[in-house]
Amino acid sequence: MPKPYTHPDAEPYKPLNWTGLEPPAFAGPVPHHVAVVMDGNGRWANRQGLPRTEGHRVGVDAMLDVIAGAVQAGVKHLSVYAFSTENWKRSPSEVRFLMGFNREVLHRHRDQLNEWGVRVRWAGRRPKLWGSVIKDLEIAEELTKDNTRMTLAMCINYGGRWEVVDAMRKMAEDVQSGRLKPSAISEKTIAKNLYLPNMPDVDLFIRSGGERRTSNFMMWEASYAELVFDDALWPEFSRENLWRAIQTFHARDRRYGGAVDVPRA
Ligand code: IPE
Ligand code: IPE
Ligand code: MG
Repeated sequence: MPKPYTHPDAEPYKPLNWTGLEPPAFAGPVPHHVAVVMDGNGRWANRQGLPRTEGHRVGVDAMLDVIAGAVQAGVKHLSVYAFSTENWKRSPSEVRFLMGFNREVLHRHRDQLNEWGVRVRWAGRRPKLWGSVIKDLEIAEELTKDNTRMTLAMCINYGGRWEVVDAMRKMAEDVQSGRLKPSAISEKTIAKNLYLPNMPDVDLFIRSGGERRTSNFMMWEASYAELVFDDALWPEFSRENLWRAIQTFHARDRRYGGAVDVPRA
C-alpha cells in the first residue's frame, strides 16, 4: 500500500523502475556515497531558445531519475548540489525562481521520496536562505526520518568552505566553554562538526555539464573521491549516466597514497 500523500500538489507515485531500465551488473561494490553537481540547466534551456529557468524545471526530472537509479543500484548516500553559497550572485529573478522552485520540488516530490524509502536531509547554511525553504526541508526531513534505504542530502545554500567555517565556529565555541581541548582536535572532530556529521566520505563525485571543476562542493568529504565529469547537460542526464559513472569508478585504482610493487609480467 503506497503511503498517503502529505501535500495536495504531490505527483502520483511512480515505481522505482518506471523507465523499465535495470542497473547493469557492476564489477565491484557500489560506491557508498555519491555526490552530484547538477550543472548545465541554463545552457540547456538557452540552446532551446528558452529562459534559464526552464532548464531548472526540466532538471528536476533528471534529479528524480538519478535518485531512483541510485536507489536501484544500492547507493546508500546521495548528495545533490541544488543551490550553492555562490549562487546568490545570479540575477535576483533567477535566485527568486530557484528559492520558490526548491519549495515546489519538496512539496511535489517528498511523498514519492518517502515511498521509495529515501531519507531526506538538508545540508547548508541558514543565513540568507528563505525561511519557507528551510521549513519545507524540515518537513521533508521529519516525514522521511525513519527511512533507511538511501539518504539523500539536499545541498541548498551549501558551500564547502562555509561548511568548514561553520564547523570551526562550533569548535571554537566548544574550546571557549572548555568542552574541547585544542590538542584533541583531529580530522574526526572536524568531520563531526560538519552539517551532516554521520555522512561518510564521498567515494564518487560526478559533475554534469562539461566543466571540470568542483565549485566548492563537498570540499572536506570529497578529498579522496574519484571524479567523473560528464558532458551531458543536467536536463539530459539520467540514471544511465549515473550507472556509467559507477562503471568508470570501478575501473579506477584507489590507492589512498599507498603504493605496492607491481612486477612486470
Ligand atoms: C545548475 O545549472 C543548477 C544550479 C546552479 C541551480 P546552471 O544554472 O548552473 O546551468 P549552466 O551551468 O548555467 O548551464
Ligand atoms: C555549481 O554549479 C552549483 C550547483 C550545481 C548548484 P555552478 O554553475 O553554480 O558553478 P560554476 O559557476 O560553474 O562554478
Ligand atoms: Mg552552471
